[in-house]
Amino acid sequence: MTSDIRSWSLWGRKFTSPVMLASGTAGFGLELLERGSLAGTAIVVSKATTLEPREGNPPPRLVETRFGLLNSVGLANPGVDAVMENILPSAAMLPCPLIVNVAGKSEREFAAVVDRLEGSSIPFGYEINVSCPNVAAGGVAFGASPETVDRIARMVREVTDRPFSVKLTPNEGSLTESARAAEEGGANAVTVSNTYLGMRIDWRTGKPLLHRSVGGYSSPAILPMTVARVFTVSSCVDIPVLASGGATCPEDILELLAAGAAMVQVGTRVMRRPDAAAELLTGIKNFLEETLS
Ligand SMILES: Cc1cc2nc3c(=O)[nH]c(=O)nc-3n(C[C@H](O)[C@H](O)[C@H](O)COP(=O)(O)O)c2cc1C
Repeated sequence: MTSDIRSWSLWGRKFTSPVMLASGTAGFGLELLERGSLAGTAIVVSKATTLEPREGNPPPRLVETRFGLLNSVGLANPGVDAVMENILPSAAMLPCPLIVNVAGKSEREFAAVVDRLEGSSIPFGYEINVSCPNVAAGGVAFGASPETVDRIARMVREVTDRPFSVKLTPNEGSLTESARAAEEGGANAVTVSNTYLGMRIDWRTGKPLLHRSVGGYSSPAILPMTVARVFTVSSCVDIPVLASGGATCPEDILELLAAGAAMVQVGTRVMRRPDAAAELLTGIKNFLEETLS
C-alpha cells in the first residue's frame, strides 16, 4: 500500500500530523497532556496493557548507549481492570485519539484484554503487541510465527469491531509473512516494527548492564532498518503500515512516509524531549513547503 506523504489518515480519520507517540514512551499521554506537550501529536499509543498487573523486570532496565537506548522494562502495567477504572476515564481529556497497546503471555490473553477494553468508549483502536523482546513467555515468539499471528488476529477480530494494528517483530521470523498473516486474520494495520534485541556487558566484571541481560534497542541508528522493512511490507499488504523505529527528526518521518508508512510513531525521541511532536510537525511542514510547493 503506498501513500501520499502530504496527507495523513488512519482508519477513516484524517489527521493534521503524521506523528504518533509510540507505545511505552508516553504512558497513556496524560502526563504529557498536563505538561502541555501533546501539540503536534496525531495519536497516542498507550503503554502495553495485560490481563493481570505486571511489575516488569527488575532494575536496571534502561541503559543508554552511545547512539541510543537499550530497555528491558518488560510490559510493566497495572493490568486491564485498573486501566479501565483509573486511567481510561481520564484519557477522555486527551486532545487526540488513544490506541491501547495490548500484550499477553498466552495467545488467548490478547483477545481477553481487548474484550475487557470494549467496555470503554475511549480506545480509537488497539495495537496488538506480539513483538515485545522483554518477556520470557510470549513476546517475540508470538510475532515470529505467521500461524500464531493469524490465530491471535482472528481471536481479537472476534471480540471487537474496532480497528487494530498488529505490532510485528524485527528480530525473528519473516516480517512479510507475519504481516500477511495479520492482514488475513483481520487486522486493520501492521506496526513495523519494534526494538532490536541487544545487550551491553561491563567488560571489567563480565556482567550484563541490564538485569535481564538482553533488552530492546531503539535509536536513530535503527532508522535504515525500519525504512527497509516498511518499504518491503507496504508493498505486500493492502492495510496501512505504521512505522516504528528510529524516527527522531522531521526528515526521518518524511523518509518513512516515502517508504510507504501511513503514519509514523516516535518513541525514544519523546522520552528525551517530551514536546518533540510539535517540533517534528513544524519541521515536516517546512520541508514539504520548501520542497514540494
Ligand atoms: C522504554 C520503552 C518502553 C517500551 N514499551 C513498549 C510497550 O509497552 N509496548 C510496545 O509495543 N512497544 C514498546 N516499546 C517500543 C516502542 O513503542 C517503539 O516501537 C521502539 O522504541 C522503536 O521506536 P523508537 O526508535 O522511535 O523508540 C518501548 C520502547 C521503549 C524505549
